[in-house]
Amino acid sequence: MAKTEKRTTKKTHFGEQTVLLAEKQGLVNDVFHSVARRYDLMNDLMSGGLHRAWKDALVTAVNPPKSERDFALLDLAGGTGDVAFRVVDAGGLGTRVTVCDINTAMLDVGRDRAVARGYEAVVSFEQGNAEQLPYPDRRFDCVTIAFGIRNVPRIEPALSEAYRVLKIGGRFLCLEFSAVDVPGLDRLYEFYSFKAIPRIGEVVTGDREAYQYLVESIRKFPRPKAFAGMMERAGFRRVTFRQLTGGIVALHSGWKL
Ligand SMILES: C[S@@+](CC[C@H](N)C(=O)[O-])C[C@H]1O[C@@H](n2cnc3c(N)ncnc32)[C@H](O)[C@@H]1O
Repeated sequence: MAKTEKRTTKKTHFGEQTVLLAEKQGLVNDVFHSVARRYDLMNDLMSGGLHRAWKDALVTAVNPPKSERDFALLDLAGGTGDVAFRVVDAGGLGTRVTVCDINTAMLDVGRDRAVARGYEAVVSFEQGNAEQLPYPDRRFDCVTIAFGIRNVPRIEPALSEAYRVLKIGGRFLCLEFSAVDVPGLDRLYEFYSFKAIPRIGEVVTGDREAYQYLVESIRKFPRPKAFAGMMERAGFRRVTFRQLTGGIVALHSGWKL
């Protein structure tokens, strides 16, 4: 009984709030249900288009084969398919992407976008929880997650699952907000994140709180070195990270060897 009690009373962060670990996923799901239809527009507005360059850096690291060779990518927390479409554009005829996300509203937007692009045959949208993936061991050549991991309540099981579904020799790449370490830029970034982004979110999506959560969750996410340690403990080897745009985001990489 003590064990069950411990599990059910375990706390975590939801932005600045402390909530029960078991409650966090429901709160996160509400955020993305609320903003799904405006999510892509908001990404452009909030980042001044920079998210495109960061995702391009991720896709360059994925480096899908240009040939007809089969290449299966799993894009975790892939939402509306942004990373998936970029990988398909960069890859050859054998490139296939599975977008796995817990949120049906985000997946619905992604499916509509795939139809508009004529990508239904090469990108599939599947509902699943990153903490417990509905895929067999060693199924994918590469696993990516962009701006998703900080929303997943239990990061360790999600990293273990990413490791499990990768083939031997496969690569895991994670793009996530990081800690700005350029003097001057840090204060500007802080001001922009906490004052401007929730306001833009309110005007565009009608949900200020959703964007308040999103910026606060960045602060609570482990620093890149700490996250690299978590990746190593999940089994990844040759773990590295690279900070982009003065540390606004970090691109983490690890291999299953
Ligand atoms: C900030 S969005 C990122 C979407 C996309 N990767 C991108 O870069 O545009 C975060 C996504 O994580 C998803 N998510 C949150 N918790 C999840 C979980 N436990 N398993 C899978 N996806 C999850 C949300 O539904 C949301 O679509």
